[in-house]
Amino acid sequence: QYAPASEILVTVGVSEALDLALRALLNPGDEVLYHEPCYVSYMPGVVLAHGVPVAVSTNIEDGFGLKPEALEAGLTEKSRVLMLNFPTNPTGGVICPEDLEGIARICVEHDLIVITDEIYSELRYDDEPHRSIVSLPGMRERTILLHGFSKAFAMTGFRLGYACAPAPLTEAMMKIHQYSMLCAPMTSQAAALEALENGASSVERMRVSYHERRDFMVRRLNEIGMKCSSPGGAFYAFPDIRAFGMSSRDFAMELLESQNVAAVPGDAFGPSGEGFLRCCYATAFEQLKEALERMERFVSTLARS
Ligand SMILES: Cc1ncc(COP(=O)(O)O)c(C=O)c1O
Repeated sequence: QYAPASEILVTVGVSEALDLALRALLNPGDEVLYHEPCYVSYMPGVVLAHGVPVAVSTNIEDGFGLKPEALEAGLTEKSRVLMLNFPTNPTGGVICPEDLEGIARICVEHDLIVITDEIYSELRYDDEPHRSIVSLPGMRERTILLHGFSKAFAMTGFRLGYACAPAPLTEAMMKIHQYSMLCAPMTSQAAALEALENGASSVERMRVSYHERRDFMVRRLNEIGMKCSSPGGAFYAFPDIRAFGMSSRDFAMELLESQNVAAVPGDAFGPSGEGFLRCCYATAFEQLKEALERMERFVSTLARS
């Protein structure tokens, strides 16, 4: 529960909220930890706010979840903020409750502030409900929770998000927001209100459909030799292409040029994404079927190690 006037700030997408949170929190030289592969704006956002980015690699064997021991290994006396994003763009990874609890304990122990970007929280496909770190002991007072309408409500172009945080942190973000943005668009706020009040059944319909598309895509990727684990959320599959002995950039470019299929090279999401490809399944089922057929054709021309 957050107090609407003092603890919630409506922003121009999660993008603005991320920028505000980083700019409000960081002093020059503060270290910001985040799990990688991660959303493309995290590292530049930290640098633009004069912070020092510290990537903690995650891997396919752990389902791209963040392990408490990996986080602990990245800590120094300059560590100030931890950024979390589960389910994750680009991997679709989620985090198990035990690891989330372990991470919360580390944050309390080392006095870290957490920015948790939960923009995909409604899009979960396993039986586990989404759990936010903010609900764990000692976390509410040290967490900025970010959410928005771009994903679950498919309202990307409306540019609407929000940050929830204790009043002093919200006030610090408001100081930047009021001079840079003034306010989020009123028309989008009216649309978002309608979505919140009457959109739940549409979100559920989309979630069920994404679930089917995820299962189809993961099955087909594995069938054609692109090793892919089943992501617990978001709308991305992140197959391992290391067996083909090409950089992810070359793979993606050749796939685009020879088959007109667009996928994002894994290294766009940080060095730990190299050797993977982000395949988005937020498009029509027929398109996905066709894309996978073309990918099969492409892969059949490649040598494997
Ligand atoms: C993890 C993550 N955070 C934030 C954003 C940006 O969201 P918005 O459209 O609300 O600015 C995206 C968009 O892809 C995302 O994947």
